[in-house]
Amino acid sequence: MEAKKEKTIHEQGVKARKVMLEIKDLYKSFGDNHVLNGFNLKLYQGENLVVMGKSGSGKSVMIKCLVGLMQPDKGFISVMGQEIKTLDRETLDALRSDIGFLFQGSALYDSMTVRENLEFPLRRHTEKVGVVTDTKPLVLEALESVGLAQTMNLMPAELSGGMKRRVALARALILRPKIILYDEPTSGLDPITAKEIIELMRHIQKKYDTSSLIITHDVDCARVISERMILLVDGINYAEGSYEELITSKDSKVEAFFKK
Ligand SMILES: Nc1ncnc2c1ncn2[C@@H]1O[C@H](COP(=O)(O)OP(=O)(O)OP(=O)(O)O)[C@@H](O)[C@H]1O
Ligand SMILES: [Mg+2]
Repeated sequence: MEAKKEKTIHEQGVKARKVMLEIKDLYKSFGDNHVLNGFNLKLYQGENLVVMGKSGSGKSVMIKCLVGLMQPDKGFISVMGQEIKTLDRETLDALRSDIGFLFQGSALYDSMTVRENLEFPLRRHTEKVGVVTDTKPLVLEALESVGLAQTMNLMPAELSGGMKRRVALARALILRPKIILYDEPTSGLDPITAKEIIELMRHIQKKYDTSSLIITHDVDCARVISERMILLVDGINYAEGSYEELITSKDSKVEAFFKK
């Protein structure tokens, strides 16, 4: 009786931690530059997972392989239980619409207004949202969630760095993704604006119950937002744990991350 009860609780635990993203044994080289050498990662539902690695360690390469912008040499990648390699274009597109991607450095289209930038994913993913004839309510809602409704008709050049990052976040949110990937969400921002962006990420996580993979080399960002961290060193998931666990590690490569 007792044993059966225990099993049920265990099963519930496993179910509660559905795997949203999985990377197994990922390899990617550019000629002699072996960037990823067997990298592994699991992102569980509702969590904030931070991947830290020094500049050039392969963080962006990893995330690009994850979303199919780059072809890995070897490895298994699955999104919500579906291995991306096995999917046809249509299914892959549908899956992509469940993933919001905040590119390193915002990557807004400079020749388009804020509104047009946000309309882009709506037009690209009609299989999810249908053909939206009146985009304004959706655009406004996404902009309101980042506190920038008033910028709808501005050009990116008219925005500050922090505002651009917020607009890019609104664009990543407009399709109501289940997973958000952030590539260096605070880089290039002053400390106060960086803090605002982090607050916004936490707010969005709560409001939309998203799972987030956050790539950063900003230790403060990692401390505030991470529930779990992975350190990417030498192309592998070198160390994993909570911020507290990693900051007290005696491993010299791990210590190097937290030295100011
Ligand atoms: N398209 C490419 N062709 C050739 N080499 C590439 C390409 N993209 C990335 N690399 C190389 O892969 C390595 C990892 O690059 P990546 O952009 O993933 O670093 P990163 O960890 O994101 O760094 P940062 O913190 O500066 O953003 C670098 O040595 C880079 O030169
Ligand atoms: Mg990068």
